[in-house]
Amino acid sequence: MKKPIVAGNWKMYKTPSEGHDFVQKILNLVLEIEKTHVIFCPPFPALFNMVESMPSSFSVGAQNCHWEKEGAYTGEVSTAMLSDCGVEYVIVGHSERRHVFGEPDEWINRKVLAVKEARLIPILCVGETLEEREDGLTKDVLIRQLTNGLKGVDSLSGLVLAYEPVWAIGTGKTATPEQAVEAHQMVRKYLMELYPHQEAEAVSVLYGGSVKPANAAELINSEGVDGFLIGGASLNVESFTSIIKQVEQES
Ligand code: PGA
Repeated sequence: MKKPIVAGNWKMYKTPSEGHDFVQKILNLVLEIEKTHVIFCPPFPALFNMVESMPSSFSVGAQNCHWEKEGAYTGEVSTAMLSDCGVEYVIVGHSERRHVFGEPDEWINRKVLAVKEARLIPILCVGETLEEREDGLTKDVLIRQLTNGLKGVDSLSGLVLAYEPVWAIGTGKTATPEQAVEAHQMVRKYLMELYPHQEAEAVSVLYGGSVKPANAAELINSEGVDGFLIGGASLNVESFTSIIKQVEQES
């Protein structure tokens, strides 16, 4: 059975000191967790120290990276730098990177390949905007983002996917379990066409978009949902802990 994942994407919140205190509080409350894999994804400056103080059963992820090994790319961070910090996961293609910073599928694909090459685990995010959903384009968008994002990826092992409908991110509007199941089925079915069945079944597909304590249990019990990528609710001790405990209990 797949171990459910609960990943907290802090975005541009919390200084390294705040992050340290926050993680210590969470760890004290969820140290007995066994069936759930918790990943903290703080901003870059917190990564190194956070890994140092993280128990081995928990993981640390970055929110972005550049695909080149090194070079004159002011403001960018390479996978080797992340790896050297002890980071295990890298979020790639988050909707804020796609829509706020204009990252095209091609860059996202290069990042996925670079992260895999560095033996880190990409968490590749895909998802449609409200307009695309209303125009009936959800499946087309997911297939396009998967096809382009996974170009040249010959195995799904060492990769995590996240379905994050853009209209649900940070808006308080969560996908209904039916909408989540439907989108997760589209993703899984398409992966089955591209990769051996066993691999497509084994890959974890997370749901993200306004996950909170009030909807976590229902969503984690939705078919095909293998965990969560959480923004807002991952910034608060009570809500993040509650979600982790609910996932643990339901698994
Ligand atoms: P949210 O963000 O939980 O605040 O909607 C999810 C995400 O951005 O990954």
